[in-house]
Amino acid sequence: MNDNSENNEVEYIVPGVRKPLPPEKLDALRREILELKKRHNAVILAHNYQVPEIQDIADYVGDSLGLSQQAAMTEADVIAFCGVHFMAETAKILNPSKTVVLPDDNAGCTLEEACPAFELEEFQKANPNFYTISYINSSADVKALSDVICTSGNAVKIVEAAPKDKDLLFVPDENLGAWVMERTGRPMTLWKGNCYVHVEFTNSKLNELKAKHPGAPLIAHPECMKGVRDMADDVCSTEKMISYCKESPADTIIIATESGIIHRLKKICPDKTFVPAPASQCNCSECKYMKMNTLEKLLACLKNMEPSVELPAEIMERARRPIEKMLEISR
Ligand code: 13P
Ligand code: SF4
Repeated sequence: MNDNSENNEVEYIVPGVRKPLPPEKLDALRREILELKKRHNAVILAHNYQVPEIQDIADYVGDSLGLSQQAAMTEADVIAFCGVHFMAETAKILNPSKTVVLPDDNAGCTLEEACPAFELEEFQKANPNFYTISYINSSADVKALSDVICTSGNAVKIVEAAPKDKDLLFVPDENLGAWVMERTGRPMTLWKGNCYVHVEFTNSKLNELKAKHPGAPLIAHPECMKGVRDMADDVCSTEKMISYCKESPADTIIIATESGIIHRLKKICPDKTFVPAPASQCNCSECKYMKMNTLEKLLACLKNMEPSVELPAEIMERARRPIEKMLEISR
């Protein structure tokens, strides 16, 4: 697990507004959260896009793959999942007897929305030879209809391991799917869905940034569009971005993903400069869903044990198989 206990540099963020939380309030919140965590034998898992103060109190901060691996191996009785809803659902599917709480159960994802299970089911009927690979950014119902799950960190490996005699259907991110097709040479039918944050990055804004920071490498998430992926020095998951930045000799790096990751990058590489790629319409690149979670809501969910993830046993049973297959292939 990451050790975040020592960090005291915190910037308090609410969507679109950043203001520091008074230190006494921050300390009180942290104390209460840690007390409740101990009382309930809870673990706090947080995605790389979470607000700094949540990252700083979490037991583990990482990408979707790392988070599902942590969820699969935890011995805690309660998982407080700070990310978006599909991530907490995945943790519950892997731990049906545990309590999984999340700070805000309205934290959705445009990719999940793009693929309703009934539409996928209809589409699958059209070709019984489909082998369905679903990006983890999908609902439990969609996972239950899938042959295997992938994340951005293991998508290439998962597609390479897919049966050769099957027609591949990749849902719901057309950009990640297209990138994986380029990398593996394996044709796939792609569902038409995208992440509203990553499709906002444009070549023209990134070219302006490159001109301002000559020599700075650009790293982009595979949810970005082809033009952006093609101009990037590396295309990778958020966790691989962390290792890229640690290992790179460059002192300035341009980051084309949700800007929450900059906090962790700055903690790990304090001497480097990270330039967040701006979206085309505004200068920020924040996911409004990821930013719904706050320290106050984390405290409330640990206090009240809600909102919690509840799913029908039959759906969890069916959705667990393709998630476990992914974890096996990723080992
Ligand atoms: P990672 O698995 O790379 O962290 O991506 C999750 C996500 O939601 C990207 O928008
Ligand atoms: Fe979904 Fe995009 Fe937000 Fe990630 S950044 S959770 S893909 S909407």
